[in-house]
Amino acid sequence: MSVVESMQDFVAEHLSLLTPVQEIWQPTDYLPDLTAEDWSPRLAAFRETARSLPNDLLVVLVGNMVTEEALPNYTLSLGRIAKDPTGTTDTPWAWWLRGWTAEENRHGDLLNAYLRLTGRVDMRAVEVTIHHLTRNGFSSGGEGDDYAGLIYASFQERATRISHGSLARLAHERGEENLARICRKIAADETRHEVFYTRVVGELFERDPDTTLLAYRAMLKRLIAMPGSRMTDGCDPDLFDHYAAVAQRVGVYTTHDYASIIRHLNAAWGLENRSFTGKAAKARDYLLAQPERYENLADEIESRTAAQPLAPFSWVYDRPL
Ligand SMILES: [Fe+2]
Ligand SMILES: [Fe+2]
Repeated sequence: MSVVESMQDFVAEHLSLLTPVQEIWQPTDYLPDLTAEDWSPRLAAFRETARSLPNDLLVVLVGNMVTEEALPNYTLSLGRIAKDPTGTTDTPWAWWLRGWTAEENRHGDLLNAYLRLTGRVDMRAVEVTIHHLTRNGFSSGGEGDDYAGLIYASFQERATRISHGSLARLAHERGEENLARICRKIAADETRHEVFYTRVVGELFERDPDTTLLAYRAMLKRLIAMPGSRMTDGCDPDLFDHYAAVAQRVGVYTTHDYASIIRHLNAAWGLENRSFTGKAAKARDYLLAQPERYENLADEIESRTAAQPLAPFSWVYDRPL
């Protein structure tokens, strides 16, 4: 039995990081009530405040939404780790994966509804992008390695939390409280999920430190791409890079954030105080040096992004950003 499979009891103890269905929010809670007698003025008010969002924030929001909507890819990927061959397997790992998927599914639903109702973007172009991304698939880059998949999930839950959280702040600054509230709610879910994956990997460090550390280093040797990195709208093959550049420029997800995530994970997994042997001891030094390395690179990357030519986004009717 693999180390990950042997962690059923540990996972069972952490299933409380999922919120019971009767207590959790649903997309409807943050959308205008279309069944109300006065649905029309409610909807009009909802659309009115959304007019304050500039195109660059809309593009970042669409990119985040498309990434959430490709959830089937991430469930497939984590399914290899959580092992639910029947689809209804009664093990803590399988319960986690289904519960996590069910919570995540609300993120794409809510952002999709928000964008559709506000009428600010070309929803068909957005849908085509989701379709492409789901077909193109997703890889954590760990080539089926369970440890890499879980390390990637720890990183990504924090990255999406930062991204949704930053967007909430920027929407609030624009006076778009509906979107600010939505993004804050989603970010709070990502935080619970982040805690789960980070603790699971923390336990891997307890049970199998050297292998876990080497998987972490292998992951950081490449740049950790966001899960939507294979997105395209069928016209722009570099759509993800263009979206990432806008996110960097408006400050939703930057190289500083990337560095801060590594710094956080290094501390959460106690890299500084753990002892490793052989190759892993060298890998530890490499990992501890990464936050500073990216901090130092940040200015250069930012000015390179700023100098990049603008790209037209089909999501906002080919306006260049
Ligand atoms: Fe999410
Ligand atoms: Fe997530």
